Amino acid sequence: MQPDQSPEPVDLDGGGLRLRPWRADDLDDAWTAFQDEQMRRWGGLAVDSREDAAAWLGRRLEPAPDRLHWAVVDPGTGALAGSVGFSFLDPVEGLAMVGYWTAPASRGRGLAPLAVDTACRHLFATTAVDRVELFHAIANAASGRVAEKAGFTWEGRLRRSHRYDGVKLDQFLWARLADDPPPALSSRS
Ligand SMILES: CC(C)(COP(=O)(O)OP(=O)(O)OC[C@H]1O[C@@H](n2cnc3c(N)ncnc32)[C@H](O)[C@@H]1OP(=O)(O)O)[C@@H](O)C(=O)NCCC(=O)NCCS
Repeated sequence: MQPDQSPEPVDLDGGGLRLRPWRADDLDDAWTAFQDEQMRRWGGLAVDSREDAAAWLGRRLEPAPDRLHWAVVDPGTGALAGSVGFSFLDPVEGLAMVGYWTAPASRGRGLAPLAVDTACRHLFATTAVDRVELFHAIANAASGRVAEKAGFTWEGRLRRSHRYDGVKLDQFLWARLADDPPPALSSRS
């Protein structure tokens, strides 16, 4: 892929899950997921209304050179289970930032680590990005577990680095390099 091309969110098989491009008809399921307290607390999505959710989804339907997002779906039912994607994607610098969430009913089955790992493998294999960064609020321990299980290495604490619900909090920074050993993962059904 050339650095100025928009990467394509092709269908990916993640073992116990499937990653596919977002669709306009995902709006109802995404909006339902956004009602969750954990999503509102830690998602950093600024989605307070259905219109906000439509704008959020609209950004995922438009190809752009600096982002790449997938809907995570159950391969059996096709139901929306979550989201994974990269923003600040810069093949020239070889950098991207990963973001993710899992719908409440799909949590605790190892889906987020599997989705993050699947997306990272694809990014490393198809672009010049060789470092993916992951940030989460220190109190969001579940997200730290996702980082660890998806093969990221803890790199440090960023003081008052991101605003959550209007309050700036410290975050942990993790990173995965293209030549880091990939994790051995599977989802629990
Ligand atoms: C963080 C999050 C993505 C984890 O997704 P997941 O698919 O449940 O990931 P896992 O199944 O690997 O669980 C990760 C950790 O979540 C916790 N967890 C387990 N079951 C859970 C449940 N039913 N509900 C909430 N958290 C649970 C555990 O600490 C688990 O770690 P463990 O495997 O060592 O026990 C998900 O909780 C979420 O979407 N949270 C809200 C949005 C968010 O925080 N996004 C990340 C922003 S940086």
